[in-house]
Amino acid sequence: MAAPGLIRCKDSDALAVEAAGLVIRCEQEAVRDRGRFTLVLAGGSTPEKTYGALAEPDRARAVDWSKTFVFFGDERLVPPDHAWSNFAMAHRTLLAQAPVPASHVFAVPTVGNTAAEAAAAYAETLRRFFSATANDPPPRFDLILLGLGEDGHTASLFPGSPALRGDDAWVTCSPPGTLPPPVDRVTMTYPVLNAARHVAFLVAGQGKAAALRDVFEGRASRDVRPAVGVRPEHGTVTWLVDEDAATLLCRSGFPA
Ligand code: 6PG
Repeated sequence: MAAPGLIRCKDSDALAVEAAGLVIRCEQEAVRDRGRFTLVLAGGSTPEKTYGALAEPDRARAVDWSKTFVFFGDERLVPPDHAWSNFAMAHRTLLAQAPVPASHVFAVPTVGNTAAEAAAAYAETLRRFFSATANDPPPRFDLILLGLGEDGHTASLFPGSPALRGDDAWVTCSPPGTLPPPVDRVTMTYPVLNAARHVAFLVAGQGKAAALRDVFEGRASRDVRPAVGVRPEHGTVTWLVDEDAATLLCRSGFPA
């Protein structure tokens, strides 16, 4: 894996603009090279500004939404209109604002399913979309957006979770982590995250500083700081961080 890239932004607004630009660049590369763009959205609150920036008319016009397909890196086991739903957040900030065909959005089927059933169904959704069988290697998404929890989790891969060892499943379920909301999760696993062409972490706020330093400086195992385990074998990782989150990084962001 190539060394990760680090983009330090003065604040979360600047991070959102930078991240929206990265999405647009990845989309243009993917459509040019492969005729379509497969995008995995991150959940939580940090990406809201990025999705809002991407939905702004000048940026939304830069994306060929007719060739863009949207997936979710993880989801809370709540209905798609629930305040805790990652789909609901993405719909409010981006999917209802930009001309994204509804048939191009693949939400995790959380209604009427247990977390394990929803995970299995979502894995089947991925297999169908990529015309793959259970024996095929994981799908290669063009861009996967991820957040970072204060405990170093990413997607819903929480410290010490059995989901960290879902090495053959593409999607698995996870009990609630120690951070809110206290609800079962469905999450893509390391094999899928690490098959991506591009991964971009969006990290803002002082509360993430210790986890960001630990991940960057290799201070912890992936069992303790699960974001450590995101190391795409044939892909790039870009960290977009604001100065509040970067306070514990050395200037370059990389260990001396
Ligand atoms: C989720 C996210 C999760 C999130 C981090 C950071 O479902 O909560 O997928 O991994 O990205 O917890 O969340 P914030 O952006 O809200 O700090």
